[in-house]
Amino acid sequence: MRRTLFILAALAVAGLAAAGSVVSLGLYNVSARAGHLPGVSWVLHTTFRNAVRLRAPAEDEVPDLSDPALIALGAGHYATACAPCHAGPDGSRTATMRAMLPVPPPIREAVAGWQPSHLHWIVENGVKMTGMPGWPAGGRADEVWAVVAYLDAVKRQDAPPLPEVSEQQQSAPPGAAYCATCHGSISAHVPRLDIQQPGYLADTLDDYLTGARASGIMQQAVSMVPPEALPGLAAHFAAGPAATAAAAVGPTAGAALATRGTREVPACTACHGPGAPVAQPEAPALAGQDRAFLAAQLRLWRDGVRRGSDKMSAAARSLSDEEIALLADWYAALPPDGEIEE
Ligand code: HEC
Ligand code: HEC
Ligand code: HEC
Repeated sequence: MRRTLFILAALAVAGLAAAGSVVSLGLYNVSARAGHLPGVSWVLHTTFRNAVRLRAPAEDEVPDLSDPALIALGAGHYATACAPCHAGPDGSRTATMRAMLPVPPPIREAVAGWQPSHLHWIVENGVKMTGMPGWPAGGRADEVWAVVAYLDAVKRQDAPPLPEVSEQQQSAPPGAAYCATCHGSISAHVPRLDIQQPGYLADTLDDYLTGARASGIMQQAVSMVPPEALPGLAAHFAAGPAATAAAAVGPTAGAALATRGTREVPACTACHGPGAPVAQPEAPALAGQDRAFLAAQLRLWRDGVRRGSDKMSAAARSLSDEEIALLADWYAALPPDGEIEE
């Protein structure tokens, strides 16, 4: 017994010494050109497939992936964040990308064999030691679904064409046409900017730049333009075309909650309007804003993912999913700068 233990200990020490010399003497060839030793690729890929299957979100968390606006948003993000490595469905990868190890597969190949929930896990987490990056913002599993919706369309062979970003950047002010490939062009999930004051938009862009406000989509977008262009873009989009008036809406459960509040929820209109004077003029306008965006942001405030205003965090803290839907419906249907109908 003692002899067996001694042999096992000696083998363990020898193993560690061998591993130590591979590390310290540089014996392992890390060249991407050298390829993997026989069997290593199989072990790595099998580990990867099983790790993804084990951790992917549940099937009932998958939203409606056929929503054309969600697919368009995913395409907009894909064009700058993913196409440089995987190319578009009809594009080709550069020779340099094809020299990576492992090689980023062409996108049609990359999506084959994965369920939407698996793709969600891969895009949110990335794959260690392969070059496949994770999502740039923590806590934003919600927005990863836009990319999954696009990948699902690629798989079904009916993906929309990707926006031509390099051409869009040659505009005045620089980047404005690029920003407009999403803002004003996609019918849902993307916020309207023309209802906000330039100061709010400029501060917000700065928050995306520093990561104080987490969004993989917008952190990627602000990193595509020079930082000194951001104040000009804020002024450009805030000063955009006059808002079109939506149909006025009458009193609803959403109206009562927003204008009067409850014991746990303060009246939203006290800070956000409509109806002047508001207590907090720097709070963003909500009237006429996109419904899906409003609901998504309210969930982020409630769940503590979006921070930056303690008062707003407190206002959202005890909202239920039903109340969020009522408030988003009510604000989205209001005409911008509208008056409340009593
Ligand atoms: C810097 C290059 C790079 C970028 C940018 C990149 N990827 Fe990848 N991706 C890779 C590499 C390399 C792999 C291969 C990993 C492997 O084989 O283990 C990969 C793997 C994948 C896979 C799994 C394919 C499979 O079965 O092996 C999917 C799906 C994927 N990427 C989607 C995306 C999406 C969507 C984006 C943008 C949000 C993106 N990738 C951005 C390099 C990249
Ligand atoms: C790929 C689509 C896409 C592109 C390109 C894009 N945006 Fe956005 N933008 C979004 C989405 C989605 C959000 C919501 C992000 C969040 O959850 O915080 C957003 C949010 C914003 C907000 C916050 C608005 C608010 O009311 O809180 C501003 C400001 C903004 N974008 C400006 C820009 C500017 C300027 C550019 C160009 C540099 C740009 N966006 C490019 C999709 C895009
Ligand atoms: C005490 C003032 C106050 C009250 C009350 C308040 N908010 Fe806010 N809210 C703010 C401020 C300030 C911000 C912007 C904070 C930031 O971006 O840093 C904000 C941001 C938001 C946003 C994000 C909008 C965007 O364009 O990004 C939404 C949505 C929102 N509030 C909805 C509501 C709703 C619905 C209520 C009522 C339940 C409410 N708020 C109550 C102050 C308030």
